[in-house]
Amino acid sequence: MDHFEYRAGELYAEDLKVSEIAEKVGTPFYCYSTATLERHYNVFSGAFDGVNHLVCFAVKANSNLAVIKTLADLGAGADVVSEGELRRALEAGVPASKIVFSGVGKQPHEMALALEVGIHQFNVESEPEVQVLSRVASELGKTAQIAFRVNPDVDAKTHAKISTGKAENKFGVPWQDVSRIYGQAAKLPGIEIKGVDVHIGSQLTDLEPFGNAFDRVRELVQKLRSEGHDITRVDLGGGLGIPYDGNIPPSPSSYATVALNSIGNLGCQLIFEPGRLIVGNAGILVSKVIYVKQGAERKFVILDAAMNDLIRPAMYEGYHQIDTIKQPDASTVISPADVVGPVCETGDTFARERDIPEVQADDLVAFRSAGAYGAVMASTYNTRPLVPEVLVRGDQFAVIRERPSLEALLDLDKMPPWLEKK
Ligand code: LLP
Repeated sequence: MDHFEYRAGELYAEDLKVSEIAEKVGTPFYCYSTATLERHYNVFSGAFDGVNHLVCFAVKANSNLAVIKTLADLGAGADVVSEGELRRALEAGVPASKIVFSGVGKQPHEMALALEVGIHQFNVESEPEVQVLSRVASELGKTAQIAFRVNPDVDAKTHAKISTGKAENKFGVPWQDVSRIYGQAAKLPGIEIKGVDVHIGSQLTDLEPFGNAFDRVRELVQKLRSEGHDITRVDLGGGLGIPYDGNIPPSPSSYATVALNSIGNLGCQLIFEPGRLIVGNAGILVSKVIYVKQGAERKFVILDAAMNDLIRPAMYEGYHQIDTIKQPDASTVISPADVVGPVCETGDTFARERDIPEVQADDLVAFRSAGAYGAVMASTYNTRPLVPEVLVRGDQFAVIRERPSLEALLDLDKMPPWLEKK
């Protein structure tokens, strides 16, 4: 459920007309709903009421400081994968004690900052990484609390580019080496083993792969305990899918049932890293029609947003519902069109032969479910400045990231001395 609805014939974000925000901010822009963010966080966390758990929002899904702060104010922790994300989480008020640090390529300077501020846990992904972490922690006189991310070799049945739990993927330590790796890490200075971590992929719409992975983790915890490790935490990652195309994925409460059936009675703190589930449907990308062009075979609706602003359709064949800001009525003609951006490649196509209400130049449209992996994955390809982000709360809105000027963008480039004007 989200708070983008038609009222009196046009699309609202909570209590504000999207068209009014567009008039003030210009298009394209991302628009997030506070009420939806709060609802999604509360539904997810609420599914684990009464259980010792920590919800660490996966900052990679949407790293705007205002979004992180909205969630931090509800008690959310953060899952970060870089020094930049760590700094964002701290800046937005997430206590270090609620931050977990994931990722296959953590560098010593990133580890050092995380140790200095005292994060909850490092999710370590390899033997060389734990050796570097041990060295960095020892030099600083600190102890790193760690879980190893294990690769359970299960098929998440999602898009290949966002599937992470198969043996062939780069993530986690290989299943057959887990005992040995824990045994060796336990002897390292500056390392305190706390738990086991798993994350098998993103946009999962089936609970079975989760169940398989979590069952494997339960067996592993029991085995590691029998080998003398004091395992008190299990991090189950993120990955629960959201509705993009009308199909409704399993609810957080069904997911919780699966998780608790597997891991519930181990007496561990349960850590979760949801990203998309919290922010995905809490955001839209608003864009304006520039031209409607009749091609030889198809009609093209050319928007002012492009693949550089929202890359999911080009990169993962991702489906985003496209709604007109004006509510269609009985007289509206629906016809197929290719919805495209102005970038000079055929991949800059948001939808092919999609049935949409007829539009004309200057009409506004909204891409739904664009709050996760939207703005964060944007680039300035074709020298298009990053688009602004707006946060709505009731009948108020604020620009939470400004549209950079073209001057600022060009100013990043520098002439070498030999090309400077004489
Ligand atoms: N934890 C770890 C270690 C992750 O790698 C990820 C996502 C998450 C948690 C959060 O997963 P979520 O709950 O959002 O599914 N750009 C792609 C998605 C990439 C996901 C990367 N890792 C997309 O637009 O579909």
